[in-house]
Amino acid sequence: MDLMGKVVIVTGASSGIGLATAKLLAKQGAKLVLVARSRDKLEKLAREIPGSIAIPTDMTKPLEIKKLVRQAKYHFRRVDVLINNAGQGYDAPIEKTNLERMQMIYNLSMVGPLVAMQEVIPLMRYQRGGAIVNVSSGTALMRLANNGAYSSIKKALAQLSLTAREELKKDNITVSVVYPYMTATDFEKNTLKNNVPLTEEKPPIPPDTAEFVAEKILEAIQTGEAEVFAHDWMKTMGRQGSALPDAP
Ligand SMILES: NC(=O)c1ccc[n+]([C@@H]2O[C@H](COP(=O)([O-])OP(=O)(O)OC[C@H]3O[C@@H](n4cnc5c(N)ncnc54)[C@H](OP(=O)(O)O)[C@@H]3O)[C@@H](O)[C@H]2O)c1
Repeated sequence: MDLMGKVVIVTGASSGIGLATAKLLAKQGAKLVLVARSRDKLEKLAREIPGSIAIPTDMTKPLEIKKLVRQAKYHFRRVDVLINNAGQGYDAPIEKTNLERMQMIYNLSMVGPLVAMQEVIPLMRYQRGGAIVNVSSGTALMRLANNGAYSSIKKALAQLSLTAREELKKDNITVSVVYPYMTATDFEKNTLKNNVPLTEEKPPIPPDTAEFVAEKILEAIQTGEAEVFAHDWMKTMGRQGSALPDAP
């Protein structure tokens, strides 16, 4: 898909991968609908990206998500691309996983994207096409200790997305999953934690930049590929089980 003049909703646009994606897509000529909870950050970004609009939304709240899509449609008269990127980590061993926290992460990373898809699909069908990109995680391909709740929800998001992809082929709507590897953003700082031992261990492969992952999201929109991995070696991770490969 050529992004010139296309209307793109980016959730989690106030920080990290979503912020880098909004800036990259603006350079491609897209009109951005900027979504997150932080009104000030979104409004500042909207001033930097001419023609974009900020719609502060809590992506755990279905009624707010419905209102967001209504407002985007009212403002731009169409929606061509939805990027479900908003997310938050949760580290805890299975034994200590807090149900309320897990439910919140589930609402944010599964229910929110589902509601957003349900809201844009009829519009995209009416427009005879569109693209949906859901940001999962490399952890969805691993069995990583202290990451069970988060990684299983991101795995569920991938399954939901690939099922939607099959259902929507006939409508010329592509649904893609992007799997970032560890990325240098505020994600780690914002990750909720329960009973996780502190570790100074460095990852065997250094983190990617948010701009690098934004390019992968752009690739997913442009190619309509089912699954886009930050790195080729991630494609076999599901079969390998838990381990990251040694540094190349
Ligand atoms: N960084 C990594 O290592 C990594 C690796 C794999 C996958 N990912 C995934 O990549 C995506 C982006 O993460 P990031 O690394 O850019 O992290 P980040 O810098 O912490 O950004 C997270 C974004 O999500 C938004 N957000 C959080 N809760 C929200 C809510 N309830 N409603 C609306 N927006 C909400 C935040 O904005 P507000 O706080 O303003 O609401 C922020 O814009 C996430 O889905 C994450 O799971 C990240």
